[in-house]
Amino acid sequence: MATYHKYECKILALLIGSGMSVLSMVGLRMVTQEGPRKCLKIYEGLERAAAPLAAASTTTATASATRDVKSSASSKSARRRIRRRKLRESLRGEEIAETTEEKGTKEPRGGDDEDVDTTPYNLVTHADRRASKDFLERSLMAAFLLKCLQRVGFFACPTPDNEVPGVEEITVAALLLRNLQLLQFNAHEFFETRTDAEHRFRGSRPVYLGVAIYPGVARFNHDCYPAVTRYFVGRHIVIKAIRSLRPGDVIAENYGPIFTKKTLAERQRALAARYWFRCTCKTCQEDWPCFENLTNDSVRLRCPTAGCSGLHSRVRVSKPIKCPDCQKKICLEDRLACLRECEALYECGLADMENERVDEAIRTFCDALKRFHEVACPPHRATHLAEIALSSCLADYGNTWRPAGVLKIARLEK
Ligand SMILES: *[C@@H]1O[C@H](CO)[C@@H](O)[C@H](O)[C@H]1NC(C)=O
Ligand SMILES: *[C@@H]1O[C@H](CO)[C@@H](O)[C@H](O)[C@H]1NC(C)=O
Repeated sequence: MATYHKYECKILALLIGSGMSVLSMVGLRMVTQEGPRKCLKIYEGLERAAAPLAAASTTTATASATRDVKSSASSKSARRRIRRRKLRESLRGEEIAETTEEKGTKEPRGGDDEDVDTTPYNLVTHADRRASKDFLERSLMAAFLLKCLQRVGFFACPTPDNEVPGVEEITVAALLLRNLQLLQFNAHEFFETRTDAEHRFRGSRPVYLGVAIYPGVARFNHDCYPAVTRYFVGRHIVIKAIRSLRPGDVIAENYGPIFTKKTLAERQRALAARYWFRCTCKTCQEDWPCFENLTNDSVRLRCPTAGCSGLHSRVRVSKPIKCPDCQKKICLEDRLACLRECEALYECGLADMENERVDEAIRTFCDALKRFHEVACPPHRATHLAEIALSSCLADYGNTWRPAGVLKIARLEK
C-alpha cells in the first residue's frame, strides 16, 4: 500500500474503463510508484543533466538513441558530430562527464539523500520526430492522467478543476508525457511459462503478464535473427545467448518479429510502424525464408581455409572444389560430416527434453549449436528449431507456473 496502490486502487475501474493502453498504464505507474516528491527530483535531475554543458546532453542523446541505431542517417551524423566534439574537448584536456554519472543522483540537495534513478527517463523518446497529432494525443492522455492524480490525493493541494495547474502538477504532467513517449520504444513484455500437468515442455507456453521497463535491455539493438533469448526470474529479466558470437558481433535482441515466423514484408511493416526504423539485418538483406519454406538445404558451409569467409552450398561437397574467395582447393566433406553430427545432436537434445532432463538438453544443444556455427552458416531449419528448443529449456529456469498436481506427483516419487 505504500506505493502506487493508494493512488491507483481508488480509480482502477475508471482506468480500465477508459480503454487506455497498457503502456499508458505503465506511464502512470512510473509516476505513482515514485510518489510526488521523487517525481519532482527526477525531473530536476533530468533538467540538470540536460542543461549544464551541451556535450553532456548530446552524450545522453547518443546513449538513448542506440535502440534505434539503424534508423536514420541523421542520427549517424549526430553521432559523428558528437565524436568530433568529444575529440575537440579531450584535446583541450576537458573531462567529459559520462552519461551514467549524469543521472541526477550525485548531488543531493540540503541533506536530502533520497536516491532517484533517472536512467529509464533517458531512454529514447524521438520527440523531435513526432507529428503534432501524435503530440496532441499524448498530451491529452497526460492531461487525463494528471486529472486522475489530482483526484486521488497525489498532490498535497491539488488545483481546482477550473484553474491552471500549479508548477508541481505541470512538472508531473511533463514527466507523464515523457513516459508515454519513451514507453513506445522501450517497454518489454513480461511473461511466465505455463506448463501442463503431465510434462515439463510438451504443451508449455509463455503467458503474457504485463509490461515493464528494463533500461539496460531497452538499449539492445534489434535483429530478426536474435542472438539472445530472454526470460524472467521474479521481477528480473535474464538475457542469454542462444548462439555463439564472434568478437565484435552485435548481441542483438528481437523486438517482436522473428524471421522464422514473419515474412520480410510483415517484419518491415511491424518495425517501421512501432519502432520507426527500417531493419537492415542480414536476415532481411538476404530475405531468409520463414519456417513454412525453410529446409535444412539452405545451409551454407564455411570455407575451411583459415581467415577465408567463403560460404558454400551443401550440394557441392562430393568432390574437392576451388573456393572463389580464397582461390584454394578445398574439400568440404569434413564440414558436412560435422553438420550431420550437429543434426544428430539436436535429436539427442530433443530426446533429453522429451525425458525432462533439462540440464542435459541445454548442454547438448549448446555444444551442437557451437559446432554448427563454427562450420556452417544459417539459415538451417534444424538449427533454428534447436535454438527455439534451447530457449524453452532456458525459460524453465525462469518464472514458471505448473498445475498443483505435478508437485504432488513429484513429491510422491521422492
Ligand atoms: C513459401 O513459398 C511459396 C512459394 O514460393 C510462397 O507463395 C509463400 O508465400 C511462401 N510462404 C512464406 C510464409 O513466405
Ligand atoms: C532436417 O534435419 C533434421 C535433423 O537431422 C531432420 O530431422 C529433418 O527431417 C530435416 N528436415 C528437412 C526439412 O530436411
